[in-house]
Amino acid sequence: MSITSVGVVGSGIMGTGIAEVAAASGHQVIVRSRSGASAEAVRVGVARSLNRQIERGSRTEAERDEILARISVTTELKDLADVDLVIESVVEDLTVKLELFEELHAVCSEHTILATNTSTLPVVDIGMATGRPGKVCGIHFFNPATAMSLVEIVHPITASDETIAAAFEFARACGKEPVEVEDRAGFVVNALLFPYLNSAVRLLERGVAAKEDIDAAMVGGCGFPMGPFALLDLVGLDTSVAILDALYEEHREPQCAPAPLLRRMVAAGHLGRKSGQGFYEYKRR
Ligand SMILES: NC(=O)c1ccc[n+]([C@@H]2O[C@H](COP(=O)([O-])OP(=O)(O)OC[C@H]3O[C@@H](n4cnc5c(N)ncnc54)[C@H](O)[C@@H]3O)[C@@H](O)[C@H]2O)c1
Repeated sequence: MSITSVGVVGSGIMGTGIAEVAAASGHQVIVRSRSGASAEAVRVGVARSLNRQIERGSRTEAERDEILARISVTTELKDLADVDLVIESVVEDLTVKLELFEELHAVCSEHTILATNTSTLPVVDIGMATGRPGKVCGIHFFNPATAMSLVEIVHPITASDETIAAAFEFARACGKEPVEVEDRAGFVVNALLFPYLNSAVRLLERGVAAKEDIDAAMVGGCGFPMGPFALLDLVGLDTSVAILDALYEEHREPQCAPAPLLRRMVAAGHLGRKSGQGFYEYKRR
C-alpha cells in the first residue's frame, strides 16, 4: 500500500522532526499531542526549522508555507482515524506505549499501519497490544530527524511482509535510507552506541578526564561529529536512561547498566538540551 497521510503521536523532539520530514516529502500530516499548547508548539518548531533552512538558502518561503499547510494538529486521537500510517513517538516507556497502541487500534481504520519510533523497546509487545500485530512495526528515525539519513525499519516476528514493504516505501519517500533490523533491544545503532555513551559517563565519574576533554578527544581522535556528552544532551538524558534500562533488561551486559550520574541528573531535571541543562548549559528558545 502507498502512504499519503501520516498521523504522528507525540510532540517532543522526535515527533516534531518526524512531522517536518513527512510533510516536507509531500505527506499530509496530523500531529496529536495531549495538550493544545504542545500540539501548537510542533507547528512553531517546524516553522523555526524551515526558517533556518530559508536563511541557509536551502528552502524558499513558498516551500515553507506549503509544508506548514500540510501539517495540522489535534489533541484527539480519533482525528487520526483515517490516516494510512501512524508513527508513535511518545516517551520511551513501555506501559505508556502499550496503552496508546491499544487505543490506536480501537480508533484507527483497519488499513492503518501503526508504527513506533521506539529506540529500544520490544516492538512485538507493542504489536500484541493491538488486534492487528501484522500491521505493527518500528520506523526508527534518528535525531535530528530532518538531518539524519538512516531509518531502522524494525521487523517484529508478528509483522507482515506487506507492512514492512510499506514502511520501506514510506522511509524512501521521505528521502531516507532504510535498513531492516530485527526486533532486539537497541536494534543496531543504539545497541552499539549506548554502551559507548554510558562508558563515557563512567570515565567522567572516575575522573579520568573533564567532559569537555572527553568530547574533544572523540571529535579530534575518532572524527565523530560531536563528543558523547554533547550527544547525550541532544538525545535527552531521560530518554538515554530509558534506552540503557531497556538494553540492560534484555542483554544483562554491565556496560548497559546506566551510570549512576545519569540517573542523578535526570532526577534533578537536567535532561539535556530540551530542559536547557544537561552536561552543558543551553539557552532556552
Ligand atoms: N531523542 C532521541 O534522540 C531519539 C531518537 C530516536 C528515537 N527516539 C524515541 O522517540 C520517542 C520520543 O522521544 P523524544 O526524544 O521525542 O522525547 P521527548 O521527551 O522530546 O518527547 C516525549 C513526548 O512524549 C509525551 N509524553 C510523555 N508522557 C506521556 C504519556 N504518559 N502519554 C502520552 N505522551 C506522553 C510528551 O508530552 C512528549 O510529547 C521515544 O520512544 C524515544 O526513544 C528518541
